[in-house]
Amino acid sequence: MAKTKSAFFCKECGYESGKWLGQCPVCHQWDTFVEEKITKSTAGKVDRLTGEVAHSVLLSDVTSNEHDRITTGMEELDRVLGGGIVKGSLVLVGGDPGIGKSTLLLQMCLALAGDGVNVLYVSGEESPGQIKMRADRLHNAGKDIRLFSETNLDRVETVIENDKPDIVIIDSIQTMYREDVASAPGSVGQVRETTSTLMKLAKIMGITIFIIGHVTKEGVVAGPRVLEHMVDTVLYFEGENQVSYRILRAVKNRFGSTNEIGVFEMCQKGLMEVSNPSEYMLMGKPEEEAGSVVTCALEGTRPIMIEVQALVCRTNFNLPRRTSAGTDYNRLNLLMAVLERRIGMALSGYDAYVNVAGGMKINEPSLDLAIIAAIISSYKNRPVDNNTIVFGEVGLTGEIRAVSQASNRVNEALKMGYKRVILPKANLKNLDVKGITLEGVDSIRSLIDIL
Ligand code: TYD
Ligand code: MG
Repeated sequence: MAKTKSAFFCKECGYESGKWLGQCPVCHQWDTFVEEKITKSTAGKVDRLTGEVAHSVLLSDVTSNEHDRITTGMEELDRVLGGGIVKGSLVLVGGDPGIGKSTLLLQMCLALAGDGVNVLYVSGEESPGQIKMRADRLHNAGKDIRLFSETNLDRVETVIENDKPDIVIIDSIQTMYREDVASAPGSVGQVRETTSTLMKLAKIMGITIFIIGHVTKEGVVAGPRVLEHMVDTVLYFEGENQVSYRILRAVKNRFGSTNEIGVFEMCQKGLMEVSNPSEYMLMGKPEEEAGSVVTCALEGTRPIMIEVQALVCRTNFNLPRRTSAGTDYNRLNLLMAVLERRIGMALSGYDAYVNVAGGMKINEPSLDLAIIAAIISSYKNRPVDNNTIVFGEVGLTGEIRAVSQASNRVNEALKMGYKRVILPKANLKNLDVKGITLEGVDSIRSLIDIL
């Protein structure tokens, strides 16, 4: 017999409570509790698969299946996954609606099918016809994949058990429902139950399941961060609608580093891998123009060269205007204050606009020095040498502080053909790079002397 009762769940973190609460005691968000019916099966907790007495195992008896990885044929995706798809894992791919999650995974399926992997694409959002139309746009290796349009997870489960695919895509988890769970598809209860069903299926059958999850306005996969702790790997697909590049980022990975990113570009024929993001980001950079400075930022462990632009001009208002696109506004104000106070530049009479070209969002302190250099260059109307890159953190007294992974950044500059790097003096002593001039600076004043 099944027994129905209701409970209250926090929409943000999935915390369960017997009564309604104004504030969640776990994530401290207000007004996030929703009531949901939960149906508990009263049939005892017997391991329905084995029915055996459970035992623990010795660590030395366990064989590592580290080598049981399937490469997707998409280098950027493999990198983010930690070197390919791990058999029997559950991967969540989150992102805003329309960012390209379905495209990415369908492309992966087509590439895998070309390698003889048996894939099943379950869509609760699109009909087979729509998926076919999308597949026709993409570069298709011509090998077949299986499609199943369904939102009832029990039926999906049956199909998976019958067809025994190696890889399953669930597009999207918010459309799936289990009949024995009373709440609506997309609700905390449903998402949690359907994910746990898929989790069991993945572990028992040794197949890899990719779950697509839409992100809500608040930036969490609808309702449940519950989902994040249930799955093995969480990837987020990010990007702006106006710019065509997309970044795939690992937020959690039980089988690899979370420092990796994959860069893609959305084109007419689907997603193209961008294997040299630096070159991509610097496309269209003006030469010998004041206010444009190239720096090297880190995305995970990956150095990416980007152009920082500043425009400083006399203000017509009592209060000067400042805007920053792609970087922190408060940081810009702070840097302007440092320049004003430590160097004596009369910036309070000037508007300042700072922009990280290409639509990237960088919140790394190493960007400071490039912002300062761009502002000075624009203020003095003097271009910064084209073959120079600048990076370093700026402190409140105008000192330049060391940044992490300087050698990575310098090597990227070398690779991209730059001749000179201006960097924090403190970073110099651990660096041994040939073929490029390194100039250490310890204060903004010494930066100005060099520029
Ligand atoms: P989609 O994968 O449907 O997004 P999601 O599943 O994350 O909601 O991608 C939708 C967008 O991608 C859509 O606006 C059109 C664009 N797109 C292309 O530019 N080129 C293509 O080849 C494809 C398939 C989609
Ligand atoms: Mg989609």
